[in-house]
Amino acid sequence: MSNYHIKHLEEYYQVYRKSVREPENFWEEIAEEHFMWRKKWDKVLSWDFSKPEVKWFEGAQLNITENCIDRHLATRGDKTAILFEPNDTNEASEKITYNQLYERVNKFANVLKAQGVSKGDRVCIYLPMIPELAISVLACARIGAIHSVVFAGFSSTALSTRINDSECKMVITSDGSYRGAKTIDLKGIVDEALKDCPCVDTVLVAKRINSEITMEAGRDKWLQPLLDEASSECEAEVMKAEDPLFILYTSGSTGMPKGMVHTTAGYMVYTAYTFKNVFQYRENDVYWCTADIGWITGHSYIVYGPLANGATTVMFEGVPSYPDFGRFWEIVEKHKVNQFYTAPTAIRALAKQGTELVEKYDLSSLKTLGSVGEPINEEAWHWYNDNIGKKKSPIVDTWWQTETGGIMITPIPFVTPTKPTYATLPFIGIQPALMDEHGEEIKGNQVDGRLCVKFPWPSMARTIWGNHQRYKDTYFSAFENKYFTGDGALRDEVGYYRITGRVDDVIIVSGHNLGTAPIEDAVNEHPAVAESAIVGFPHDVKGNALYGYVILKDTGEGRDHNNVRKEINQIITEHIGPIAKLDKIQFTSGLPKTRSGKIMRRILRKIAHKDTSNLGDTSTLLNPEVVQDIMDNAL
Ligand code: PRX
Repeated sequence: MSNYHIKHLEEYYQVYRKSVREPENFWEEIAEEHFMWRKKWDKVLSWDFSKPEVKWFEGAQLNITENCIDRHLATRGDKTAILFEPNDTNEASEKITYNQLYERVNKFANVLKAQGVSKGDRVCIYLPMIPELAISVLACARIGAIHSVVFAGFSSTALSTRINDSECKMVITSDGSYRGAKTIDLKGIVDEALKDCPCVDTVLVAKRINSEITMEAGRDKWLQPLLDEASSECEAEVMKAEDPLFILYTSGSTGMPKGMVHTTAGYMVYTAYTFKNVFQYRENDVYWCTADIGWITGHSYIVYGPLANGATTVMFEGVPSYPDFGRFWEIVEKHKVNQFYTAPTAIRALAKQGTELVEKYDLSSLKTLGSVGEPINEEAWHWYNDNIGKKKSPIVDTWWQTETGGIMITPIPFVTPTKPTYATLPFIGIQPALMDEHGEEIKGNQVDGRLCVKFPWPSMARTIWGNHQRYKDTYFSAFENKYFTGDGALRDEVGYYRITGRVDDVIIVSGHNLGTAPIEDAVNEHPAVAESAIVGFPHDVKGNALYGYVILKDTGEGRDHNNVRKEINQIITEHIGPIAKLDKIQFTSGLPKTRSGKIMRRILRKIAHKDTSNLGDTSTLLNPEVVQDIMDNAL
């Protein structure tokens, strides 16, 4: 079992060096020994970042679901694959064994086929965190359909934009969803979205909350009766290594969300290998990632990575605060969770509640704690380490992105000594580089710069759906022959990396990537708004919150500003979703602009941060006088 499971630091360095010196041999060995192939590859890697084009395991044939399900049946058929924990504590948890998962995925795959879905078709999945979500993802993969999961907190407009961009022919949804004490009318949101989606001919509806919904004849079908009739055997479609597995949208600095395309073989190999090592998963461990499958974290580390390793993966439907802020810890105790993976925003929200609800529960099963999605601040790191890990469970601060498919910079627990707020060392096979503003790589330690990656890794996104040029412009044009991440980072004296945050117009709020442009577009839809600019400012729970500077069309006199604020947030909720609401809205007479008409966000950011001692050079502005005015009225 060479190199698959790294157990000490020396071994890490040794394997890392090998993965960099002989990447093809290295990944070939991993792929060969640990996965099931219908046909092996002709070539391990071909790449050209100038196009950009990257291919891993070309010529290979496989089906990822055979790797995630079928091959475990002989030895792990009765082992729990998915452990579903419902929103409501009075509802029983559900254990889905590998045998049952096989049956349910195959039935679902047959339903998709019967409804006219075939290889290469796009299927939009808009479901809450119920087993059908993981099962429908796998069912798509079984028949070679490309899934596009849209987080079920997105609005109807955001949903229809994503459906149309990749021309999905089917939507899989539920009548509604539970979220803490609330229910959400998911089907109503889908109905609204589909008014603008001529490409969709079928909607499959899972029953979850038993609400009254309208079913459009000919288009909408209840899922369960179709499943009841379907056969539980569905031959897996034989896929090529580079066939798309899924599309997942992420925000960009401008306009349209980017449909990142992930392909089959490399994604499988890398997510499985990282899962095994980053969480040090051992047979019979119970692993829980609190993310939603609507995000990349859920794709890679709730579904594919864990199942490819035959793991038990927990799926939690609810929220950390329901019925009280002890819910996470109650679940850890109940299922004796061994690896727990969450986001800094959740840790901060829970830390605010004190430790009473933590102490109520037995957390002694925990071995490894994970963090993902945004920089974890020192205070949250220590709270997590002291109160949840009891100073004995290492925290893996994992840095990665929707685009990278898998974890890129991270400690390996019990292997890499951790350091608060540091993601520490590149994972095996990852070659990071820090770049200066002249496009030169900064060598040595105790330096900082823009974070790039200079060699391909198996799970990198291959393109943006329908827009390869944008893929090239966004990721491969800032620095020659390198993938640019959009993040800044520093490297300390021992070579540990610390991610310092985005260097573009993406703001991370509660761990969610939000582009400023689409939010500004939404704000500008308000009839009274002439122009707007959105920046982030520090927030003690969300990490960042949004600050909007808004110019009204008239002077705004006589207008109830609070009403306008509410209306603006209402429009944002409709266009994007409640996660993009503005915490502060300042009405202003102007925005600082360069002579070429570009908004100087640097200044707006400083004002929102209440850091106005050094605003830098404002003399080149077209309208320097507005700066004082904005400062005087800052919120
Ligand atoms: O800025 C980095 C931040 O989240 C961005 C990627 O967001 P997304 O594509 O939504 O994927 C999130 C889950 C993988 C990155 O560009 N980020 C993610 N993890 C960390 C982080 N920032 C600091 N530390 C992390 N551990």
